[in-house]
Amino acid sequence: MSKKINIKTKSQNYKIVIGTNILKRLNKLIDLNDNILNIIIIDSNVWKFHKKYINKALNFNNLKIINIKSSENKKSLKSYNELIEKILKLKPTRQTKIIIVGGGVLCDLGGFVASTILRGLSLTLVPTTLLAQADSAIGGKNGINSIYGKNFVGTFYQPELVLIDPIFLNSLSKRELKSGYSEIVKHALIRNKVYFYWLKKNFKKIIKLKRPYISEAIFKSVKIKSNFVIADEREMLKNSNSRALLNFGHTVGHALESINNYNKNLNHGEAISAGMIIESRISAKIGLLSNKNLKDIEDHFKDAGLKTKFNNLNHNRLMKYIVRDKKNNNNMIKFIALIDIGKSKISKNFTTEDFKNLL
Ligand SMILES: NC(=O)c1ccc[n+]([C@@H]2O[C@H](COP(=O)([O-])OP(=O)(O)OC[C@H]3O[C@@H](n4cnc5c(N)ncnc54)[C@H](O)[C@@H]3O)[C@@H](O)[C@H]2O)c1
Ligand SMILES: [Zn+2]
Repeated sequence: MSKKINIKTKSQNYKIVIGTNILKRLNKLIDLNDNILNIIIIDSNVWKFHKKYINKALNFNNLKIINIKSSENKKSLKSYNELIEKILKLKPTRQTKIIIVGGGVLCDLGGFVASTILRGLSLTLVPTTLLAQADSAIGGKNGINSIYGKNFVGTFYQPELVLIDPIFLNSLSKRELKSGYSEIVKHALIRNKVYFYWLKKNFKKIIKLKRPYISEAIFKSVKIKSNFVIADEREMLKNSNSRALLNFGHTVGHALESINNYNKNLNHGEAISAGMIIESRISAKIGLLSNKNLKDIEDHFKDAGLKTKFNNLNHNRLMKYIVRDKKNNNNMIKFIALIDIGKSKISKNFTTEDFKNLL
C-alpha cells in the first residue's frame, strides 16, 4: 500500500509517493520513454546494497547509470562540475529525465545539477536515507557548500516526483538513522505537540524500522514539511506559516558543521541535534519556553541518544559562522525560537554580543 501527498506550488504541481517496495512503479508515475536517454544517478553505497532491487525495478532501455560516492564534501563546485560533464558526455536532450537515488547529499547536488543543466531537466528524487526521506527531498531546495557557509550556492527547483521507498532504510547504519530521526523530532517540535509525544512513546520502534511506525513517522514529517512548502515555497513569509521555521536548530547546527569543515565525525543530524538543544535552551533563557518543556525535550534527546553536547567549542569561531547565516541582515542575528512544544517563531533580532552571551 502506498500513500500520496500532493504538492502545489507556483512553479510545479507534483506528488510525493510513500510505500514499501514501490520503486518498480517509477515508470507508471513518470513516463520513462525507451526512445529517450534518461539518467539515473546513484549513491555508490545504495548501489552496493540494493543493486539487485534497483536493476529489477528499473529494467529499461536507454537508462544510463552514474555512480557517485557520497560525503558532505561532494556538495562542492568541483563535484558539481564533474557531474555536469559526465552527464553532458552522454548527450542528454531537453526531454531527458534525471533520477537521483541517494541521501540528502546526492539529492542536494543532483537537484542543483538537474536545475541548471540545459536550463533545467525533469527531476525525480528517490531519497534513500531517513534524513532525505523525512526531510531533505521535500521542498525543492538544493545546493552546494562554499567556504563562506553551507548551501550558499543553489536554486529552488521542484521535482516532477518524489518516490519514498522505506526498503532502502534496511541497509542504513544506526548512526545515519538517528541523524534522520533528528529532523523528524524537529518537525514535531516546531509544529505538532501530539506528534512529539507520539515520538517520545514510539521512537525505539521507529529507529528499529518497525512497521507501520517508520512509515507513519515519515508520512507525518513529510506532511508537516509539505504544508510549509505549499504555504511559502520561497521562504518569503514571516508569520506562523514561514518556511524559515524549518530552520530550527540550524542557525547553530550549520555553524557547527562549518567550523568542523563538514568532517564525517559530525553529520548533519548530529549538528542540528546539538543546535536544537542549544536553541531550545536559549528559547527558555529569553523566557519563551517553559522549563518543563525544555526538560521534556532534553530528556527525549538523551533517551533517543541524539547529540546534545559539543566539546571544546570555540565561541568566537562559532559566532563568525552564525553571523553569516542566510536569515540575518546587517550583522543582527535571528534564530527560530520555541514558544511551546509544537510551536515556534522567528526570534527578534539580537546583536552579535547579546547572542554570544546567550550561547
Ligand atoms: N535540501 C534540503 O531541504 C535539506 C534539508 C535537510 C538536510 N539537507 C542536506 O542533506 C545532507 C545530509 O543528507 P544525508 O544525511 O542523507 O547524508 P548522505 O547523503 O551523505 O548519506 C549518509 C551516508 O549514508 C549512505 N547511504 C545513503 N543511502 C543509504 C542506504 N539506503 N543504505 C546504506 N547507506 C546509505 C551514503 O552513502 C552516506 O555515506 C546535508 O548536506 C544537508 O545539508 C538538505
Ligand atoms: Zn536539516
